[in-house]
Amino acid sequence: MKLGTPLSPTSIKVMLLGSGELGKEVAISLQRLGVEVIAVDRYAHAPAMQVAHRSHVIAMTDADALRAVILAERPHLVVPEIEAIATEVLAEIERDGIAEVIPTARATQLTMNREGIRRLAAEELGLPTSPFAFADSLDALQAAIAGGIGYPCLVKPVMSSSGKGQSTLKSAQDIQAAWDYSQAGGRVKGGRIIVEGFIDFDYEITLLTVRAIGPSGSVETFFCEPIGHRQVNGDYVESWQPQPMSAMALAKAQDIARKITDGLGGRGLFGVELFVKGDAVWFSEVSPRPHDTGLVTLRTQRLSEFDLHARAILGLPVDTGLDRIGASAVIYGGKDAVGIAYEGVEKALALPGSDIRLFGKPEAFVRRRMGVALASGATTDEARARAKQAADCVKPI
Ligand SMILES: Nc1ncnc2c1ncn2[C@@H]1O[C@H](COP(=O)(O)OP(=O)(O)O)[C@@H](O)[C@H]1O
Ligand SMILES: [Mg+2]
Repeated sequence: MKLGTPLSPTSIKVMLLGSGELGKEVAISLQRLGVEVIAVDRYAHAPAMQVAHRSHVIAMTDADALRAVILAERPHLVVPEIEAIATEVLAEIERDGIAEVIPTARATQLTMNREGIRRLAAEELGLPTSPFAFADSLDALQAAIAGGIGYPCLVKPVMSSSGKGQSTLKSAQDIQAAWDYSQAGGRVKGGRIIVEGFIDFDYEITLLTVRAIGPSGSVETFFCEPIGHRQVNGDYVESWQPQPMSAMALAKAQDIARKITDGLGGRGLFGVELFVKGDAVWFSEVSPRPHDTGLVTLRTQRLSEFDLHARAILGLPVDTGLDRIGASAVIYGGKDAVGIAYEGVEKALALPGSDIRLFGKPEAFVRRRMGVALASGATTDEARARAKQAADCVKPI
């Protein structure tokens, strides 16, 4: 692909479907290469829209609206940033050769539903995963747990993200509440759930895996250093890189990541989520796009996960090397309000090795991610402490 001049006949046009903080960084990486960026989301002034050439506000789950915006813009590449998209339209667009879908339309279809990706990983590819079953009713859930999943276990709507509708069950007493919560929290009402046996892991990682054109001239697989992270209620609160791992665990993690990303195909960066206990590694899930825990790479890698995604999708060479040890800590809205301001940014930035990103989201919620603090350090512990301290300095008012 020849790069050109935006807003001219030589322009390479990329449409982002989803314009949150991850899309904003992808847009910035693309802008630096002179790519014309079109940002799409369901609300105005979304983060990536603020750094794009143009934007469109549509419901991306509305197939007609999505098709219309793609046909009107005729981008070269369509780059999904979120899961809740009318993916059948992406399949059509890809089939008719209208645009290239990143990484592939099939990958977006498989990963938008926990059932699709879990069956591919466990049944087709034979990767180690938690024990699991699917259920469409409270009775079926009870039967699945009694039939072998046991306790503790987790219930998650098959269509959900960021821990929404997800709960951990310790005994039969928790079943009703878990079922009710899954029905309220899923993307689709009255939806199917997955029940998973609880993995008592030592730590969990995101292994950023890039499928990009390599020295051979065809698509090769490249790995970043593993990212450790901590989740609260299914939502990431801090991450660090590198996560120390045994050589055996790292080799297994890379093998799993290679197989699942080969299975999805295409070009781009993937966030492969894995659980690790000693030398044992389990596949959990995968995002066919930059991962929130990978925000840390804005501080730790010469090419952040966003730069890597931009390069990979454009067919350019990548370098996944780590530059320095670092960490990220989430800055929350802390309140429900529109157009909030932030105090204490100067204190955060005065800390050694620190940096922040404020996403510019028009509306804050108590637990909405509004920014992220980044820090380097001599050790991951030092970097984590600094990132946390920097995040704590920033006070939404
Ligand atoms: N089977 C499991 N065993 C132990 N912990 C789990 C399991 N499944 C999920 N978790 C925990 O919940 C978090 C969120 O689950 P995940 O499936 O990644 O949902 P989401 O798609 O919302 O990110 C994981 O990062 C992990 O900390
Ligand atoms: Mg996850």
